[in-house]
Amino acid sequence: MLAAHTASPLADPGIVPDPYPVYAGLAEHEPVHWCEGLNAWAVMRYRDCAAALKDSRLKAERMEEILHAKFPDRPLPPDSIYHRFTKNVMMYTDPPLHDALRRSTRPGFTGAAHEHYSRVIERVAYELVDSIPRGTTEIDAVSALAAKLPVNAAVSAFGVPEEDLEFVTPRVDTLMTYWSGPQAQPVELDLLLEHLTDLHTYSQELLEGRRGAVVPDTVIARLAAGQADGTEATLQQTVHQLVLLFIALFAPTTPGSASSGMLSFARNPAQIERFLADRACADNVADEVVRYNASNQFTWRVASTPVEINGVKIEEGQNLALFLGAANRDPSVFERPDEFDLDRQNSGRHLSFGLGVHSCLGRQIAALEIKWFFAALFARFPRIRLAGEPEWNSNLEFRSLKSLPLTLN
Ligand code: HEM
Repeated sequence: MLAAHTASPLADPGIVPDPYPVYAGLAEHEPVHWCEGLNAWAVMRYRDCAAALKDSRLKAERMEEILHAKFPDRPLPPDSIYHRFTKNVMMYTDPPLHDALRRSTRPGFTGAAHEHYSRVIERVAYELVDSIPRGTTEIDAVSALAAKLPVNAAVSAFGVPEEDLEFVTPRVDTLMTYWSGPQAQPVELDLLLEHLTDLHTYSQELLEGRRGAVVPDTVIARLAAGQADGTEATLQQTVHQLVLLFIALFAPTTPGSASSGMLSFARNPAQIERFLADRACADNVADEVVRYNASNQFTWRVASTPVEINGVKIEEGQNLALFLGAANRDPSVFERPDEFDLDRQNSGRHLSFGLGVHSCLGRQIAALEIKWFFAALFARFPRIRLAGEPEWNSNLEFRSLKSLPLTLN
């Protein structure tokens, strides 16, 4: 058992390329582990993470404390855009407000809407793979493919006007840098507030049709139509949810999954054979790719009352970092958890999209992107292999590849 003052191995950026041996050691010897660097209890086992995600005593509302932790000298007035956003957006609120906010986005996420998005994303994925010029033998698969996949889907399935990407993406990048928990980070508060305001103004103009016509049948068009029909959400609430969707849409999670998936296949070429030979394996690709490497390795909760997890007492107000990436490798749930295996029968039990009321709203869309991406990739390049060492970004929370050299033939 590690003493509480020992530096946590989870705070060492050196583990990012392969954090799983560290996770396994903690899960075995100290499954609820205090990590000073995160200022949180790190929860490492599947059963504890799943229970915590469903425990109403553990709150998602936490952004006021995070502001205080990151900028102790800069309290903001209650009507600041920061508080208006974080207190009115589904990801950082708890039921019943959370449920009403989530319901307000329903027009964009119906079954029929997803069937339509599936066809659009299939086309986007094949066009993306087709964009690799003939005769190319080697690529950086992050910049050539994975980074472009969610951007192209954002335009075609979400309805973000292509000409606005240059405006939206740098602002989302600023917000993403901030949202990564209470760790030290380089974003200036004034820039954060400015970019948050910009995205709100932009989202409102989009919803009100003041930025030109939005592509029909897209998420944004459906949310705008829902507004016009008079749903239970106010315009301001829908604007806040749309800003959150922008953050989620351009976050490193989807490219992180596409690129880590390519790495998994390049290191396990027999799995490409299984993908191509067996429909069931192809259908399992999104689940096994995100199980094997969660691109959101951990998520946060705050104890609203004293609770006990696996014999460890958590005080009221303390943070929890739920290690979804560790839960996905828990040998009590997944046999041979460190093998990438499309024949696995229970890949779908992964926690990569969370669980319970906050489970990922974009889960189906992200899964469609991954599924169609690999279908398109292996239809043209069934023999991808590593052409050099992959390089990881240093962020463990949103774990993603920086570069992935691949040979194509
Ligand atoms: C592979 C890609 C993705 C991964 C790994 C991922 C992961 C997650 C996780 C773990 C959560 C739960 C967080 C928690 O419980 O604290 C979540 C929530 C959420 N995700 Fe995703 N996500 C992905 C893609 C997307 C996309 C493309 C969208 C946009 C539609 C999206 C929208 C959301 C929203 C709105 C929530 C908050 C749901 C709520 O609080 O009720 N995600 N995501």
